[in-house]
Amino acid sequence: MAGSKRQARADGGLRAHLRAATMAAHDLLDASMQAASGWQQRADYARFLELQHSARAPLEDWLEANAPAALRPPRQTALIARDLAALGHAVPDPAAAFAHPRSERGDALGAAWVLAGSALGNRSIARQVDRIGGGVWPVAFLGDGAMLEFWQALRERIERRADPAEAAGATRAATAVFAHFLSVSNAASRVAERADMAP
Ligand code: HEM
Repeated sequence: MAGSKRQARADGGLRAHLRAATMAAHDLLDASMQAASGWQQRADYARFLELQHSARAPLEDWLEANAPAALRPPRQTALIARDLAALGHAVPDPAAAFAHPRSERGDALGAAWVLAGSALGNRSIARQVDRIGGGVWPVAFLGDGAMLEFWQALRERIERRADPAEAAGATRAATAVFAHFLSVSNAASRVAERADMAP
């Protein structure tokens, strides 16, 4: 959401710190995803879901291997696969592995925040998809209640102040997750550009 929809909050907790540190990355990602697919047409929405599946699969694997249970957001790739099947699309190949080293305090927390926080944006995208698709496009992923529940549980932890080492680890991991998503999205938008230029 380019510009102003996502404001930094100066309340001193880790969440505010992460939001401020990744705001530019989020805006870039938002713009890239609009260029790669958007969701104005049924086919655009299917591409949006394909991109989400490719990007999230390696992140879910990383969290499975590296995060304690309380910091492991519910997997969403199965929901995305269900939506894709309803639209008549196959599940795409996963993106390259998310290679962030598991070495610091805070990194699982930072990665979990990005995936869980994205459910807030998804809630508003779901409303648009509902309107544009006349209420018949599948929204198992965008309307995932389990991720919103996880988000509510995470808030208590993420809105506290963190010590500097934990905040630094969380920020590095969150930044790496945005970079991972951006590289998947930029690759998809290059494909979309080539398709637009094809005779
Ligand atoms: C076109 C794509 C996207 C749009 C339009 C979008 C939109 C939004 C919006 C409107 C919010 C603020 C919601 C609120 O405060 O109630 C938000 C927050 C957020 N989004 Fe996105 N988003 C997009 C993609 C993503 C992706 C792919 C990720 C993760 C990889 C992501 C991660 C986040 C995070 C971490 C937050 C902040 C959570 C917090 O407030 O602590 N977003 N997004």
